[in-house]
Amino acid sequence: MSRKLVAAVAALSTVAAFVVALVVTVAAVPAQALENGLARTPPMGFNNWNTTNCRAEFNEKMVMDTADIFVSRGLKDAGYEYVNIDDCWAKTSRNAQGNLEPDPVRFPRGIKFVADYVHSKGLKFGIYTSAGTKTCNTAGFPGGLNNEQRDANLFASWGVDYLKYDNCNNQGVDAKQRYTKMRDALAATGRPIVFSICEWGQNKPWEWAQNVGNLWRTTGDINDSYSKMVDIFKKNLPLAQYAKPGAWNDPDMLEVGNGGMTATEYRSHFSLWAIMAAPLLIGADLRKVNTENFTTLLNKDVIAVDQDTLGIQGKQISLSSNKYVISKQLSNGDYAVVLFNNNSSAQTISTTASAIGIGSSTSYNLKDLWSKSTQTTTGAISASVPAHGTVMYRVSKGVRTPPAAGTHQVSDLGWDSATSGWGPIEKDRSNNTQAGGDGRTLTINGTTYAKGLGVHAVSEITYYLGGACSSFSSSVGIDDETANGSVVFQVFADSTKIADSGRMTGADAAKQLTGSLANAEQLRLVVTNGGDNINSDHADWAAPTIACG
Ligand code: GLA
Repeated sequence: MSRKLVAAVAALSTVAAFVVALVVTVAAVPAQALENGLARTPPMGFNNWNTTNCRAEFNEKMVMDTADIFVSRGLKDAGYEYVNIDDCWAKTSRNAQGNLEPDPVRFPRGIKFVADYVHSKGLKFGIYTSAGTKTCNTAGFPGGLNNEQRDANLFASWGVDYLKYDNCNNQGVDAKQRYTKMRDALAATGRPIVFSICEWGQNKPWEWAQNVGNLWRTTGDINDSYSKMVDIFKKNLPLAQYAKPGAWNDPDMLEVGNGGMTATEYRSHFSLWAIMAAPLLIGADLRKVNTENFTTLLNKDVIAVDQDTLGIQGKQISLSSNKYVISKQLSNGDYAVVLFNNNSSAQTISTTASAIGIGSSTSYNLKDLWSKSTQTTTGAISASVPAHGTVMYRVSKGVRTPPAAGTHQVSDLGWDSATSGWGPIEKDRSNNTQAGGDGRTLTINGTTYAKGLGVHAVSEITYYLGGACSSFSSSVGIDDETANGSVVFQVFADSTKIADSGRMTGADAAKQLTGSLANAEQLRLVVTNGGDNINSDHADWAAPTIACG
């Protein structure tokens, strides 16, 4: 081969490798979430199924008592919101008009009466049916298949806020088609209704349901046993990459309080569901739950991990000899860590601050979210964990100095955390390729910038401000190194959005974003995909500055 030809082949294979890598990146980034504005954090509430099944104690009184207890015992204050009813609420046949009707013994005053009662407590109400001709119970209650709009309209007229849509008797009709039809029927009612897909993970809904449902079951049914709980946890854990605000993996409802596990095992169940950003739907009869399990359900530190607004599902960091380390990034730069011991004897489980991904610091503060004790470490994270037990920490950086008084180029500051959809984030360069430090001069529509950050959607960079800064300013746009692409730039002061570019394409001139950082602990720079595919989303934060002091 001539030298020229060798060079050409080498160049071509570099391009090919780039294309292959880009395609892999694209495939790994999930589609947009169902943008009905709902379930920005995993839904929290109650569902009767795990405690009553179809038995007679599932009735109007139980639902209303549950709503009362949500308020009187602090569950509502802790974030529990949806009071949902499951299968067996209906009559076994539709009425003369073709509508579903409630079982007159369980719900003598109808469903709207119960929904109104739940609403009067400042809570929301959910219902159940199946994407089939009948629901799952053998009594043969009518399902929603081919009655989607009729049933959605009826639910909306009753004031339903949440629909769990099951998979029984589906007549072999394609799952995506069935669930999309109900999604559209719910949307057409004009009422905001959380859409919960319950097809048990049979058709890998995590691959297609992000813009169909707000959550999707990933497994078959849970039951009130430690072994089943762990079995489901193991199936749900590897699906972390598919969860995000508005679109959650659902490992099924909680069994905490039902009596089939020890208090230690229920704390593990609750910790694992929280670190996996799972829906927290209590499945026990709250009138009967003992104090210890009630305390578990009310652990606000653990709930805060589940409900963190970043919306990341915890990822497995290590697993050896049935000892799990799972870590979850949180919106303020902290990380949650679960040390779960799936052995029948006590074990020491260890990891490090570096392994969980929190980034470097000279010291870290650990708060035990169950015992509430705190400790300081230079990096080691370790605990003796009882059989079937879990130790759960919130880890924060120990020594953090806010930016000094004055105006700073953001690209001169050290970030707390930084993610980019393609290649590393470049300081004072554009994003260019997978390699670090190879970008070009930041350029938007012909204007060049000496300072700034070159990222690729989907990207998020966080900075610690410690309440010391007052304002943010930046030009933003797609870098000229790509002709295409579309992105949205968003700036957050803690969880408050202070600036939004709207959708920008490669053709747009730079836009100026400004906003107040007063009292903010954290600055968060977010770039999301503009709605098309994520190719060419080379996004520039051009000369971003913060004023502090
Ligand atoms: C299926 C679902 C359960 C429950 C029952 C009701 O098994 O997966 O969660 O709704 O149906 O019959």
